[in-house]
Amino acid sequence: MGMPQPAFYMFKCEQSSPPGMPKPSCVSPQTQDLFQHLAQGLMQRGIMGTVQPIRSACLNRCSSGPVLLVEPGHTMYVGLDKAKIDRIIEDHIIGGNVVEEYVIDPELWDEPISAKDMMAQMAR
Ligand code: FES
Repeated sequence: MGMPQPAFYMFKCEQSSPPGMPKPSCVSPQTQDLFQHLAQGLMQRGIMGTVQPIRSACLNRCSSGPVLLVEPGHTMYVGLDKAKIDRIIEDHIIGGNVVEEYVIDPELWDEPISAKDMMAQMAR
């Protein structure tokens, strides 16, 4: 048996804005330890490896931050804090059930457009 690939990738936006910037960002003094909390939560449960946490640049949903994208599934979680991250690990990653109440508004997360369709739109 080969080395198993991860079952999940968790992309935590780690983008911060310089002080004074009007644009919201996912990392502030109040939220700067969320990635560490996520990684520790995976380690404490012994699932680091089959779940890969990744520090991401901006995921383009800044006003809904802090955000976390779980793959597979394109599940975008928003407005995160430590308690929500714990529940996402327990319910989604371990239990297999998306935590719908933390998922982004569908108006802000519509169906993806294929690269081919996007290129066709741009050519018009
Ligand atoms: S700063 Fe996190 S989504 Fe843009």
